[in-house]
Amino acid sequence: MAEEPAKPEVKVAASNEPKNSERRDFLKQAASVAVGGAIGAVPACAGIAVYLDPLRRKSAGSLTVKITTLDALPNDGVPRKFSVFADKKDAWTTFPMSPVGAIYLLRTGEKKLKVLNVVCPHAGCFVDFVLDRDEYSCPCHDSTFGKDGSIRDKHSPSPRALDELKYEIRNDNEVWIEFLNFRAGEHDMIPV
Ligand code: FES
Repeated sequence: MAEEPAKPEVKVAASNEPKNSERRDFLKQAASVAVGGAIGAVPACAGIAVYLDPLRRKSAGSLTVKITTLDALPNDGVPRKFSVFADKKDAWTTFPMSPVGAIYLLRTGEKKLKVLNVVCPHAGCFVDFVLDRDEYSCPCHDSTFGKDGSIRDKHSPSPRALDELKYEIRNDNEVWIEFLNFRAGEHDMIPV
């Protein structure tokens, strides 16, 4: 029986292998850079949006709430008191539009406001604006505050001025605030 002639060795795949695997590695790396870049871009964009919108720079526990309109707020130097309503939630139930606090709004210009939390920073009573004295007064221990919220009496028991809140005018007329309460009895404003 005649011997079969030896077949030539075929090395096609072997000669292409390093190039293909290099290309695959390159494509994998390029894809991971693209995905990583996209993931990194999301917080960066969010950060820019937060930087540009003051009401988005929110503290934990704050509520962004529409209070009134500029049309309804006379520019006569008298602060107006508003209740703040928001949805409250416990473990099981949502209580829609429940009272969560109150603020004073003072219009100080065309689109400028001073927004103060009514809670006295001494021990948490609600201050009142006394028209004939042109100041805020706390009924509990007689702290007094100017219309800008600053402490008036140098012997005031309150450790700090009234707590000022951020606001924003939306759609040219709507008054929105970031509502927050702060810890009583502290020198600094510590959100609760
Ligand atoms: S709670 Fe306002 S002065 Fe004490």
